Amino acid sequence: MNGENIVLGVTGGIAAYKSAELVRRLRDAGADVRVVMTRGARAFVAPLTFQAVSGNPVHTELLDDKAEAGMGHIELARWAGRVVVAPATADFIARLAHGLADDLLSTLCLATTAPLIVAPAMNQQMWSHPATQDNCRLLEERGVRIIGPESGSQACGDTGPGRMTEPSDLVAALMTPPGAALADRHVVVTAGPTYEDIDPVRFIGNRSSGRMGFAVAAAAAAAGARVSMVAGPVRLPTPPGVERTDVRGAVEMRDTVMRVVRGADLFFGVAAVADYRPRQQAGQKLKKGPDRQHLDLVSNPDIIAEVAALEDGPMTVGFAAETEQLEQHAREKLSAKRLDMIAANRVGRAGTGFESEQNEILLLWPGGERHLGKGSKRQLARSLVSAAADRLRDRESIETRTDQDSRPASG
Ligand code: CTP
Repeated sequence: MNGENIVLGVTGGIAAYKSAELVRRLRDAGADVRVVMTRGARAFVAPLTFQAVSGNPVHTELLDDKAEAGMGHIELARWAGRVVVAPATADFIARLAHGLADDLLSTLCLATTAPLIVAPAMNQQMWSHPATQDNCRLLEERGVRIIGPESGSQACGDTGPGRMTEPSDLVAALMTPPGAALADRHVVVTAGPTYEDIDPVRFIGNRSSGRMGFAVAAAAAAAGARVSMVAGPVRLPTPPGVERTDVRGAVEMRDTVMRVVRGADLFFGVAAVADYRPRQQAGQKLKKGPDRQHLDLVSNPDIIAEVAALEDGPMTVGFAAETEQLEQHAREKLSAKRLDMIAANRVGRAGTGFESEQNEILLLWPGGERHLGKGSKRQLARSLVSAAADRLRDRESIETRTDQDSRPASG
């Protein structure tokens, strides 16, 4: 963003306090920032705050001769390399969609030819309202880029979609070219093995190195996604731009995934999750006993199947590591776990699989397949992410068409 001129529009929502942090991060990324505040925004944060963090005067009035004598709304509109509105309230989005120009920010948005980016923030019910959804669709059709909102707990006490995207994620999204395959998407990846503890020193584990999962997370981040990775015990460095949570056992992995997966677009289950765990974990180290010992095991949750069963859940991509009858076993998993896609790879042969740098993948989905061939895990991860992004787009365009078809005809 070196030297880029950003006009940051701040409208009247509680998330306005986060915009001060956004200004700092934009400046850290090299941008020159001028802040325009609506009257509502000034009820939440004082203009002086934005003046201090941006190092520029704050613009608030349209019909103010003193302000217009400085940098007027037309000059500001021409100065902007991009206009970012964060937070954007439901009201501001509606006014933007209808082309109103009754204050400085709305006028500037009409007067500029610079790309417009909007980060909505509002109560979840207001976000879900058809009026807001239709307004956002209209803006997107006109080329406005909408980033977020995120799901989570809200200032009003509700839980759901409507939180403004965090300033660091907004800046990361602004730095990603809009055409990137997964721009503005949220991707969740599980990686590595799980360790199922028997006692404080022993566990049941497996030979997964985590390299494939880390490569998928890195490829998704490089394709513009916001990536949350839930990793079992591995000592690999976190790829740039990936938000990592370390876990140990399958139950902890499931609980973490369920917390981060809400509102995600795409889920890659790359972890080699243990199918069973000891029914009980001994509090103290178990002592040597008789010649024969039995471990009492119980099933672990099937994480990817639980994600695939979520209502409004993400598109799911699983992995099937097989030693024989690759396609048949992988197809069985695809349908049993109700996945959208599965990456089948053969293990147990020298040179591919668990501990190797190389892999070979056959990608399967209901009614289709693609051989991604042999390659390094990084190359295959890039091909896999790109194929999954294509399928995600296809899936969404089918859903949109079905939605339109099922709407009652008017007149
Ligand atoms: N998986 C999961 N949770 C589990 C087991 C597996 O999320 N408890 C996911 C893996 O991350 C992978 C896919 O399911 O994406 C297939 O895993 P695999 O272990 O091959 O399937 P299983 O159902 O365990 O079949 P089996 O061990 O009998 O081959």
